[in-house]
Amino acid sequence: MAPRAVVTAATGGIGLETAKGLADAGYAVTVIGRTPQRGDNAVAAINARGGEPARFLQADLASLAAVRALGERLADEGPLDVLVNNVGAMFPDHTHLDGIEASFVVNHLSPYLLTELLLPVIKHRVVNVTSGAVVVAKKVFDHVEPPGGYYGFHWYGRAKLANLAYTLDLATRATTIGVLAADPGGADTDMTDGTLRTPKIVAPPLRLLWPLVRRTFEHATSRPAATAARSSITAATDPTLTSGTVIGPKALPVQPHRTARDPRIQQAVRHLSQTHAPLRHVPDGIST
Ligand SMILES: NC(=O)c1ccc[n+]([C@@H]2O[C@H](COP(=O)([O-])OP(=O)(O)OC[C@H]3O[C@@H](n4cnc5c(N)ncnc54)[C@H](OP(=O)(O)O)[C@@H]3O)[C@@H](O)[C@H]2O)c1
Repeated sequence: MAPRAVVTAATGGIGLETAKGLADAGYAVTVIGRTPQRGDNAVAAINARGGEPARFLQADLASLAAVRALGERLADEGPLDVLVNNVGAMFPDHTHLDGIEASFVVNHLSPYLLTELLLPVIKHRVVNVTSGAVVVAKKVFDHVEPPGGYYGFHWYGRAKLANLAYTLDLATRATTIGVLAADPGGADTDMTDGTLRTPKIVAPPLRLLWPLVRRTFEHATSRPAATAARSSITAATDPTLTSGTVIGPKALPVQPHRTARDPRIQQAVRHLSQTHAPLRHVPDGIST
């Protein structure tokens, strides 16, 4: 039987290109997304490459209830070789989803919960998609929301930092699988077309420099999604990579961000995750 891979948020953008790359590598890929029409198109594009048949499963990964239902369904299906948590989103306005700040839900709690639900069946690798935006994050994780004003880009970066800390933490605890992060670098996608267009996503001092900041964003996100997807594909498929490796935008290992390696940050993130996306049990083989 062909090895199985799940790629979230894979009906477009970097996720779709990652799914194509895994299909080319011999995986039977499950594409997760919200929109059935986009799902059908994605499956058709993957299947046209002639590999193992792909399939689409609909799930809104901004809903932890939907993530839970998806995780339980996939776990019931049995062994899964690779999970790529590609979902991510930036919110221009301070938004809550079921009472929890939206950036934290979509960029951290959602992939955290899906991973934890699937750990009992994952056989080979988890890849969490991170971002260079982690460098602008406030490095405090006492609460879901950091102190100070809401700026979408910075809060997105902080949620990605939480997820990177979780990734490196899990890499030390999950001894039978590889847990890696992949930073695709900038790419021209729906996300960058939409959210990087308004000065309110950055803190006031940067707004004063908005024309320069915007040009920098536009330049940094001009690469095709297929190029950016090489980081996740490498993280998922290169047999020489060890758990805890972070693959950078050039699809090569990079030094993990220092804050994400800090055990106090990892513990704080673990506490927030367990509080806001509780599991019913601790999966076998994982030390807490
Ligand atoms: N683009 C960049 O420059 C860049 C840079 C660094 C890191 N990243 C990270 O790379 C990953 C992919 O980014 P991208 O730019 O390709 O994003 P994107 O353009 O927003 O991705 C679009 C895909 O995400 C799906 N999606 C969005 N919200 C979803 C939800 N709530 N539930 C399920 N599916 C959802 C869409 O599916 P439907 O339309 O079917 O819902 C579509 O398949 C993200 O984690 C992002 O943070 C991106």
